Amino acid sequence: MIVMNSYKITTLNDFITLRQKDFPYAKGELSSLLSHIGTAAKIVNKKINKAGLVDIIGKAGMVNIQGENQQKLDVFADKVFTDALRSSGECCGIATEENQNEIVFSDKLAKKGKYIVSMDPLDGSSNIDYNVSVGSIFSIYRRITPRGKSVKNEDFLQPGSQQVAAVYVIYGSSTMLVYTTGNGVNGFTLDPSIGEFCLSHPSIKTPEEGKIYSINEGNYIYFPAGIKKYIKYCQEKDDNSARPYTSRYIGSLVSDFHRNLLMGGVFLYPSNDKMPQGKLRLVYECNPIAFIAEQAGGAASDGMSRILDISPGSLHQRSPFYAGSKNMVHRIEEFLR
Ligand code: AHG
Ligand code: MN
Ligand code: MN
Repeated sequence: MIVMNSYKITTLNDFITLRQKDFPYAKGELSSLLSHIGTAAKIVNKKINKAGLVDIIGKAGMVNIQGENQQKLDVFADKVFTDALRSSGECCGIATEENQNEIVFSDKLAKKGKYIVSMDPLDGSSNIDYNVSVGSIFSIYRRITPRGKSVKNEDFLQPGSQQVAAVYVIYGSSTMLVYTTGNGVNGFTLDPSIGEFCLSHPSIKTPEEGKIYSINEGNYIYFPAGIKKYIKYCQEKDDNSARPYTSRYIGSLVSDFHRNLLMGGVFLYPSNDKMPQGKLRLVYECNPIAFIAEQAGGAASDGMSRILDISPGSLHQRSPFYAGSKNMVHRIEEFLR
């Protein structure tokens, strides 16, 4: 910890080292992995802050496996985080939104890595060209195949409850890194003057009730009946409760989730006639956000069951997603029953 003109600075690396004792089985490997993600996030942040000035906005002219146009920043962020994870020596392979299959790290050091990472290197990428905040999301597991061998697809298909860590970065009015290793949720804000993520939101707890609902109401006609009823419920006047709620939707999962995490509220991306499994990907969007939600005292569901209990069948499998204040998520499940 550094004290600079009476303002205590706990950097991300200080904090990770301090909390090393939280996981006796790890001899600093997870700490090193988290630190590498933090360093790479600073590099991506620099590029995002100049988007519009450097040739980094707009389409990359390629389509990813989801059939979505890749933005240049998607491709840039994917490369920066992939290189950082490969060089960490703690990670034996990754799954990323930008690649059809998992990426095996074949060099000897990486092969001995204990962890695998699934990531959405740039979340909310349709917003980049219009200066709306975007994010990066990471889900970290211990591998289940033997160390020293090449990582396998099954390493990436573990249920979310097996995560050892989840991280998101939000490139917003300030740049923040929020993570959990299963011992609560802590938030760090990048201080550009010293280039460090500094502890700014220790032990984040999300209110059990909130007054914000976040959903793309443009899809209203395609929603299941229970969700249509829930939206009307949010908009009704009820004297002894906070309703009508406020509607807030940015179109970047990380930003919408982060605001609701701090203020209370619920994020909804339902299944709908156009996307029967919803839009968000279970492995590298729903699971890490669900882990953080639960660790902050919130909840995350696919409308019937706990997100973290779902066993993924494939890397890019989609899931309906409801996450945030516990009572609000459970009420949505009731509307859907
Ligand atoms: P990505 O940019 O990684 O594809 O993710 C975009 C996701 C998520 O960030 C956001 O909540 C959702 O897409 C918004 O979808 P709609 O535009 O359909 O509302
Ligand atoms: Mn995304
Ligand atoms: Mn993405």
